[in-house]
Amino acid sequence: MSSHNAAQYNAAKSGTFKIGGDIEINRLGFGAMRVTGKGIWGEPSDHAESIRTLKRLPELGVNFIDTADSYGPDVSEWLIKEALHPYGGKSVIATKGGLTRHGPDIWLPVGRPEYLIQQAHKSLRNLGVEQIDLWQLHRIDQKVPAKEQFDAIKSLLDTGLIRHAGLSEVSVADIEAASKHFKVATVQNRYNLVDRTSEDVLDYCAKHNIGFIPWYPLAAGDLAKPGSLLDSIAKKHNAAPSQIALAWVLKRSPVMLPIPGTSKVKHLEENVAAVDITLSNEEFSALDAEGSKVFKAA
Ligand SMILES: NC(=O)c1ccc[n+]([C@@H]2O[C@H](COP(=O)([O-])OP(=O)(O)OC[C@H]3O[C@@H](n4cnc5c(N)ncnc54)[C@H](OP(=O)(O)O)[C@@H]3O)[C@@H](O)[C@H]2O)c1
Repeated sequence: MSSHNAAQYNAAKSGTFKIGGDIEINRLGFGAMRVTGKGIWGEPSDHAESIRTLKRLPELGVNFIDTADSYGPDVSEWLIKEALHPYGGKSVIATKGGLTRHGPDIWLPVGRPEYLIQQAHKSLRNLGVEQIDLWQLHRIDQKVPAKEQFDAIKSLLDTGLIRHAGLSEVSVADIEAASKHFKVATVQNRYNLVDRTSEDVLDYCAKHNIGFIPWYPLAAGDLAKPGSLLDSIAKKHNAAPSQIALAWVLKRSPVMLPIPGTSKVKHLEENVAAVDITLSNEEFSALDAEGSKVFKAA
């Protein structure tokens, strides 16, 4: 795993999933939050490297890119357009709306229907597309009736501005409530080896063939310490602990669509190389048990 010979690996090896039963993607995607500036604010410190990272995606078979209007804000969408437009059918882009930015690391939800619709229009322009493949509500705004936010999403689907719609950081009850207004194609919640808060949501998604997009998928916390189970499994596979964490997430469910994010080509290549790691069922179960233990103890 230490060598990065591009000919050796391709995200296609992670298998495919059809978003909304319609748009086929390779399951291992890319998160474009990290290509912006510090605090996910403004331009990146190394613009050329961010562009190189994005341009490398199609070469590595990564055809599912997650972004949001709030990353920068706008900067992530602009960079995707700069690097990859015209997309020529090679990139399926999922963006989000519903979080506003007032400075580095500050994220405040606004779910007014007129704002959500405006932001979808802006994302269309930023990305240079006529229709957004997948638009996700970044957060349900507790200050606005959920029904109004869901109806705004329905109108985006009805007018064809977006092709599919998803939710982020939601419960099973939220998915069920939203499903009364529109077809929920994906759910994006924080999930990794040591953060298992969303197990019930993941199981619900698997049952209903909803794509589950785990964010922060590389995390392994204390499990990655030298001498740990994860560390020994990583050594056995000649891999980095983060690659094993990713291989575990991919093996967890066929609806799992991880989007590891980076601003560096080298890290991108390392992450995609994780598709070549096949964990045995014993390794998977042992990591599962250790990760659950760490999660419950936290
Ligand atoms: N829905 C939501 O609320 C939400 C919230 C957060 C994120 N997201 C989405 O999820 C994506 C992933 O989440 P995330 O960025 O928080 O977590 P992540 O992808 O698990 O981790 C990213 C961090 O790990 C580093 N990294 C990546 N690959 C590496 C490698 N091979 N070796 C060493 N370090 C590496 C990155 O820094 P370098 O740039 O230095 O590589 C970055 O600091 C984001 O890009 C975004 O699209 C969604």
